Amino acid sequence: MKSCILVTGGAGYIGSHVVLQLVERGERVVVLDDLSTGFADAVIGAELVVGDIGDTGSVLRLLRERRVDTVLHLAARTVVSESVSDPLRYYAGNACATRNLLWCCAQAGVANFVFSSSAAVYGMPASGVADELAPTVPINPYGASKLMGEWMLRDHAAASGLRFAVLRYFNVAGSDVRGRIGPVTRNATLLTKVACEVATGKRKHLAIYGTDFATPDGTGVRDYVHVDDLARAHFDALTYLRGGGESVVLNCGYGRGYSVRDVLRAVERANGGPIPVVDAPRRAGDVPLLIADATKIRRVLGWVPRYDDIDVIIGSALAWEHRIDARTPRPTSGRVLEGAALPRPDSPHAMVV
Ligand code: UD1
Repeated sequence: MKSCILVTGGAGYIGSHVVLQLVERGERVVVLDDLSTGFADAVIGAELVVGDIGDTGSVLRLLRERRVDTVLHLAARTVVSESVSDPLRYYAGNACATRNLLWCCAQAGVANFVFSSSAAVYGMPASGVADELAPTVPINPYGASKLMGEWMLRDHAAASGLRFAVLRYFNVAGSDVRGRIGPVTRNATLLTKVACEVATGKRKHLAIYGTDFATPDGTGVRDYVHVDDLARAHFDALTYLRGGGESVVLNCGYGRGYSVRDVLRAVERANGGPIPVVDAPRRAGDVPLLIADATKIRRVLGWVPRYDDIDVIIGSALAWEHRIDARTPRPTSGRVLEGAALPRPDSPHAMVV
């Protein structure tokens, strides 16, 4: 049997894009997702197992039965402000769950591990730009929980011979350029998603969280990376590890910053008219400025981004938002093996596209 890649969180926004690219490149993929924020229908061309990565017995069985040689670990809680109000949930869902998964990988003899980390591990870099050697000083529980995952992976790899790539995501945005999948989150918090919901009339206005940061226009500045380019970085990392590459930590961004107002102008260009905004106080846990020094990933993986253009990113995000308005629910295209955790029709995560 051909070896297999396990993608945890593969029914989520980023995970589903990663799975699609792996499948398109001929990989055999199994997704493990509890569907707490993901959707069965977002898994295209891969087997979906609905379950919890904390359930070590089931995870171990899955790794062994499918002969998994590589794990891409994307399952996580990701909302910074929520991590401030409910930190233990983040330490359980991100740090403890990663520890359990690593234990299972050790038992099952998994060779390679790609860990979805975050720019949030840097906290507030002095210049606003972080390379991989910048101090890791997270300022919120989300960033701390991701950093704990990195530490466990590093230490476990040193002891066991597991090889890994840590991918520190900056601000992931946009959707599949062919329009098959995209973010579906209810009660979304991501700027690009929220702005597109306003542009398509699903929300009345967008609140700009903080207009008094020490940035050129007073609003937060981030490095927005197209989700298809980010997905490609996972495939490149996998290829690198399988080719014998050393364990590595890599920033995933383009190395350029856009303010909230820059992003909103791009949404207005794509929308062909203004969208309503209101000024609001700063949001808990937000940093003023966070941009990747993204030279290492290009050098080490040979990663070549294709969509490094804010208008392309926002164009794909807005097109997706229009598309999900027009579509009716359709049956899942992934094979659900353990369906007990599928969302109820009235659950906040039940909107399947
Ligand atoms: C995102 C990720 C986080 C990652 C970080 C890396 C998610 C949910 N968040 O967080 O995991 O660590 O990138 O940099 O995936 N804003 C508004 N109004 C809104 C929404 C956002 O003004 O309605 C502002 C924020 O204050 C911030 C910027 O837009 O300045 C981006 O916010 P957001 O899209 O929520 O991403 P991050 O908080 O940076």
